[in-house]
Amino acid sequence: MFNGKHVVITGGSSGLGLAVAKVMIRQGARLSIIARDMKKLELARKEILNENHTGIVNIYSADVSKMDILAGVFKKASETSGAPDVLFNSAGILREGYFETIPDGTFREVMETNFFGILNSIMVALPYIKKQKGRIINISSVAGMLGVFGYSPYCSSKFAINGLTETLRFELKPAGVRVHLVCPPEFDSPMVDELNKTRTPENRAHVQTIPPYDMDTIVRDIFRGLMKDRYLIIPGLQTRITVWANRHFPSISRFVSDRIISSTYIGPKTER
Ligand SMILES: NC(=O)c1ccc[n+]([C@@H]2O[C@H](COP(=O)([O-])OP(=O)(O)OC[C@H]3O[C@@H](n4cnc5c(N)ncnc54)[C@H](OP(=O)(O)O)[C@@H]3O)[C@@H](O)[C@H]2O)c1
Repeated sequence: MFNGKHVVITGGSSGLGLAVAKVMIRQGARLSIIARDMKKLELARKEILNENHTGIVNIYSADVSKMDILAGVFKKASETSGAPDVLFNSAGILREGYFETIPDGTFREVMETNFFGILNSIMVALPYIKKQKGRIINISSVAGMLGVFGYSPYCSSKFAINGLTETLRFELKPAGVRVHLVCPPEFDSPMVDELNKTRTPENRAHVQTIPPYDMDTIVRDIFRGLMKDRYLIIPGLQTRITVWANRHFPSISRFVSDRIISSTYIGPKTER
């Protein structure tokens, strides 16, 4: 599916973006990886090339929240490896805490990276992707479909991504551009390792209604969904059951969540 394609992966230096990059290089894609930290990018490049020694991986240090810098990166990437065929938006950050203690700036930071980062990437990539009749794959989260204790900034950004992605699916299909929305549950990654250092007990209990998945299952289900040309890809059987139950029996889902949260509830000790 990706053989000979030029795939741009934002957030490809770590976690899910890196794992997907390894599969794509094995399938024969040419890769351009975007993230901020150059050292992490260089290490990721080595790891990806271990999967295919003759593969092409170019790395670019850029912050996805900076549209002008991204535009320069996409221009350079297309001059180096041809017009991108696929944009895989995985760059993201997570902040967790009680709403009453989260500073206003954190909401803006998370929206800037998670929502505007995806919006900026699509805006600069679209002329190329449209020409190639390519694909846009947006990594959202199951937290873009269900509210989660402690995730007020994160859920806001992911719900916004879902609205944007569904709209673009309708607008870009007639032009031959395929758009996919991926909503994974929690899975093992450096993002979650960081979260585990500080997360509230209520968040842990609520999120882990769906037990954390391993990366291989998430990646396998994403590629299965892409091969079937599915718009909405929800990795993990238990995640799909939870989303289905929430859609068809929302009041029961809320009742179960309330019980889980109240059994661990501590709440904020201070205010903003
Ligand atoms: N892990 C989970 O349980 C989980 C569950 C559902 C959805 N997701 C979503 O999956 C995606 C990947 O998560 P992950 O767990 O793989 O995270 P991760 O290991 O922390 O990787 C995040 C990647 O995004 C890059 N990044 C962050 N901010 C950036 C910015 N402003 N500009 C450019 N690159 C930036 C990071 O590199 P730099 O820091 O060097 O920039 C890194 O390459 C995220 O969108 C996340 O919300 C994760």
